[in-house]
Amino acid sequence: MAWDRLPVGSTDVPAQPAVLLDADGSLEDVVVAYHERTKHHFHRYAASLGYMDWATQPDPFRRYEGADLVRLLLPKPGRPLPYWQLYALGDVPSEPLSLQSISLFFRYALSVTAWKSLHEATWPLRANPSSGNLHPTEGYAVLPALERLGDAPAVYHYAPKEHALERRAILDAEAWNELCTPFPAGSFLVGLSSVHWREAWKYGERAFRYCQHDAGHALATLRIAAAALGWGLVLLDGITHSAIAGLLGLSRSDDYRTAERDEPELLALVIPGLASVSPRLLNGLTAGGIGAQWCGRANRLSPEHSVEWPVIDEVAQATQRSGSAPIIEDVSRFPTEAELFGIPVRHGLLTAEQAILGRRSAVAMDGSTAISQEAFFRMLARLVPTRDGRSVPWDAIPWRPRIHLGLFVHRVEGVPRGLYALARDPDKLAALKDVMRREFRWQRLPSCPPGLPLYLLQEGDCRALAATVSCGQDIAGDGAFSLGMIADYLDSLTMYGAAFYRNLFWEAGMVGQVLYLEAEEAGIRSTGIGCYFDDPVHAVFGIASRKWQSLYHFTVGGPVEDRRLTTLPAYDFDEER
Ligand SMILES: Cc1cc2nc3c(=O)[nH]c(=O)nc-3n(C[C@H](O)[C@H](O)[C@H](O)COP(=O)(O)O)c2cc1C
Repeated sequence: MAWDRLPVGSTDVPAQPAVLLDADGSLEDVVVAYHERTKHHFHRYAASLGYMDWATQPDPFRRYEGADLVRLLLPKPGRPLPYWQLYALGDVPSEPLSLQSISLFFRYALSVTAWKSLHEATWPLRANPSSGNLHPTEGYAVLPALERLGDAPAVYHYAPKEHALERRAILDAEAWNELCTPFPAGSFLVGLSSVHWREAWKYGERAFRYCQHDAGHALATLRIAAAALGWGLVLLDGITHSAIAGLLGLSRSDDYRTAERDEPELLALVIPGLASVSPRLLNGLTAGGIGAQWCGRANRLSPEHSVEWPVIDEVAQATQRSGSAPIIEDVSRFPTEAELFGIPVRHGLLTAEQAILGRRSAVAMDGSTAISQEAFFRMLARLVPTRDGRSVPWDAIPWRPRIHLGLFVHRVEGVPRGLYALARDPDKLAALKDVMRREFRWQRLPSCPPGLPLYLLQEGDCRALAATVSCGQDIAGDGAFSLGMIADYLDSLTMYGAAFYRNLFWEAGMVGQVLYLEAEEAGIRSTGIGCYFDDPVHAVFGIASRKWQSLYHFTVGGPVEDRRLTTLPAYDFDEER
């Protein structure tokens, strides 16, 4: 794969202390030290092993030995829901909660979507993308008693290879009912965790960033899967790290022993139907506290670890949420759907299922395909929340956008080549103008919908520049456009604390996931780019202040298919279930 040929980092780095900070720094200081230390520079990559130690390659599939495996019915392919309806909240009839709908939810969110093979090698691809296809993200659900699933509420781990749920714990029914009282009937919880080792094995110290990107992509796939079923999904942002660990069984040392640990990331509430709820704090919640009987022992993913990266543990600890009031931010000054899109999109090429299950990263771009301005504007409009706070997937997170785009436009019909900015929070326009190059034009395009906060900064051919700052990857210059995601970084950490470092990456991953699906709908492809030179990207846009940091890159364009690869089905659909 193209990315596999990239330098994975280097051992040739100046000696750095094994820890990020001495004891007296704040948690935000730990985050900043980690972020600075894991930047890629033209002259050196962030520290990693520098080669692939194939003998210790981690197993991409976690299993809990001894836990009951409930196979999910394989949903019949061909569901006709149009892709655009995913974003038209209220249009999709709500599916009742059942084994079938849960199966479809996980199929669309986290399942295997194909196996690829080349010569002797075979590897799976999933609905959610992952840096290096290493898949650090694990999915969990806490579900009520359901026919053919189980006659008691329970905690489950999703096993993507089998498309099955592993029952990790049975919960006390009365306590579960009490817990769910504030939520509409049929609500359930879904959680994500990261196994850092899977990414660190290849990418060393920068791996924590990639785990967070991947969690963000998966949060978006969960939200979009819920939308396809007519369900709502909201992140429970006030819940503590230890409450998530307790509820999902991730703090049960005896169940892991020498196995690599799952780091809790997030918990979300899924609400069948569109009832709006204000999720109350679930901080008191641990499955221990609601009477759980646990079973299952986690598998070890690598026979041994030839190297450890202690700074990952440090930044993970510094960013654990220790309890805060849920975030409430106002979007009433954001554009309406009509202002953002011109004419709201109510037609399209694909079904939701084709876009979700067909999504793939381009491994190379053709250097020639141009896209229409309509497609370009529509893709960008999907990335901006609307004033009613109901646009998918942005309705899942309660904070206003902290991720803005610095775009490299190469091939969009009727749109001059050059550098552009998309201020995803229109109120941040002045701050972005202030922090970027003085000579930028900040010019609106006459054909751009009035509410789309897109600005031409500087005309010119930036294909080579885009590739150079993306670690020399041609895909950034050979597409229709590529971009750097510029985060409103230090102010966000000051406002919400060190734990919000993760949220910034999640938001960046969500932006990426929408671009993946939008590219499918436009008949092209896109690719996440985690390998980029941090400070040189800032220099392109004239950003000298540490307050703004590029957190992720993306490219969108006409793909070149690798015809050497064979595609095999994800599952044996004829299998008796
Ligand atoms: C956070 C993230 C970073 C990535 N970085 C790169 C990259 O720098 N270069 C690249 O060619 N692909 C990159 N990818 C694409 C992955 O290699 C791709 O998602 C993975 O191989 C799985 O393939 P799929 O997306 O087709 O399922 C990235 C993906 C993610 C989610």
